[in-house]
Amino acid sequence: MRRETERQRERLETCVLVCTNDRDSEYACCADVGAEETVEAVKSWLRERGAFWSPIGVTTTGCLGLCSEDGAAIAIQPRDEWYADVTPEDVPELLEQEFGPDAESIDRRAVDASEHSSH
Ligand code: FES
Repeated sequence: MRRETERQRERLETCVLVCTNDRDSEYACCADVGAEETVEAVKSWLRERGAFWSPIGVTTTGCLGLCSEDGAAIAIQPRDEWYADVTPEDVPELLEQEFGPDAESIDRRAVDASEHSSH
């Protein structure tokens, strides 16, 4: 076991968790409502702005407790923001709201600080 808190804090400000849970039952699940496409839309949006993986991570996850027939669930941590019914078409608006049109509102201080500390 290794504790990697410092390293991740330097690299990441935020993690976008997208539920891709699949379940074989009568209840709605994110996998059935385009969650994989939603994940790809999130990654593309961030990639186009040079913000994918550092400083914004994207992770698929199990059920977030916001299951619906109208779209996938997304949590943005550690901001404690939660969204339900997210479709791939909603992704640009959602991320723009969170991070600004060019992901400029993301806190890159942690990344800057690690660059300074290496000098
Ligand atoms: S299956 Fe995605 S929130 Fe429950």
